[in-house]
Amino acid sequence: MPTRVAIVGVTGYAGGELARLLLRHPEARLVAAVARSHQGEPLRAAQPHLHSAPESIVIGSDVGDAEVVFTALPAGEAARQAGRWLDDGRIVIDIGSDFRLRDPKLYERWYGYAHPAAALLKEAVYGLTELTRDRIRGARVIANPGCYPTASLLALAPALKARLVTEDIVVDAKSGVSGAGHNLDDAYLFGTIDESVRPYGLPRHRHTPEIAQEAAILLGATPRLTFTPHLIPMTRGLIATCYAPLRPGKTSKDVADAYSREYAEEPFVRMVDSFPATKATLGSNWCLVHAVVDEDSARLVAFAVLDNLVKGAAGSAIQNFNARLGYPETMGLEALPLWP
Ligand SMILES: NC(=O)c1ccc[n+]([C@@H]2O[C@H](COP(=O)([O-])OP(=O)(O)OC[C@H]3O[C@@H](n4cnc5c(N)ncnc54)[C@H](OP(=O)(O)O)[C@@H]3O)[C@@H](O)[C@H]2O)c1
Repeated sequence: MPTRVAIVGVTGYAGGELARLLLRHPEARLVAAVARSHQGEPLRAAQPHLHSAPESIVIGSDVGDAEVVFTALPAGEAARQAGRWLDDGRIVIDIGSDFRLRDPKLYERWYGYAHPAAALLKEAVYGLTELTRDRIRGARVIANPGCYPTASLLALAPALKARLVTEDIVVDAKSGVSGAGHNLDDAYLFGTIDESVRPYGLPRHRHTPEIAQEAAILLGATPRLTFTPHLIPMTRGLIATCYAPLRPGKTSKDVADAYSREYAEEPFVRMVDSFPATKATLGSNWCLVHAVVDEDSARLVAFAVLDNLVKGAAGSAIQNFNARLGYPETMGLEALPLWP
């Protein structure tokens, strides 16, 4: 029997992408599509690209008899509701940021309010599948990583784990505008973003403590992290370019060996031998990584590209779902990218 799943926040970008992927997942059955708007209307009324979704999938307010609840909501909203789903014996996979930081005080500092369900932070498992799949298998609450942290950590993980670099990390990242969700702010209007690139968020972007938290675990030391995101005039796609000084005596060969060892068996992370482009991941769960050593500055420069709505959100949530339920990790995610 397929696993019964619900999507809460199904009218959003990430929720729509979850629906697209879950509708073709052979071991998932979408039993509830939840949002505040469009209630009583078929899913395709809110997500026109899902025009062939079954008529019976109607947007409502309840997760029904779902065994797994995917949440794709603004910060704080999943945490306010997760407790009752967990009490009913369901598994929660949150695409938002509610369960990513382990320390409630850190959450309060970066989000500006007390965590609505701080007790759950202890048991939530950070769901960057490549790094934490063993812990995901027993989790009730899976905290899907942010899109920037996914790219940044996959770009840096082999170097951090092998201690090839120092703690001094700079992440310069760029994302398409869907990364901001359905946002009617002036900053996201077509006339504002088209033919323009600008940084934002520094030094208070909420992905900063998340990258730092997970990098510290990999490195075994607290990183000195500068993270600068940029908004670029495209709909989807994200690149993280990461810089870190090489430790004395470490070489290009050490870097090449560490990266190929780390990702040799990964189904969705591929080392490429030239500079990767976001377009090569469009619509897919791939993350492409390239790492070089700049010999003159003795710095590692590592790049990762992905589709922020797939490997950066819905695709990785389904990869976590697969890992949690014991399905092959690639199930329902095998599609090739849409563009060369
Ligand atoms: N976009 C990305 O690339 C991306 C990547 C990784 C993670 N995320 C995270 O995923 C979550 C959703 O992002 P998104 O880009 O899909 O945002 P979005 O397009 O704005 O969608 C937000 C969803 O939440 C619902 N919602 C809005 N305000 C709500 C509230 N106060 N209470 C309950 N529901 C509310 C909205 O629908 P109704 O108004 O109809 O209820 C909609 O379904 C966010 O936490 C985001 O940080 C996004």
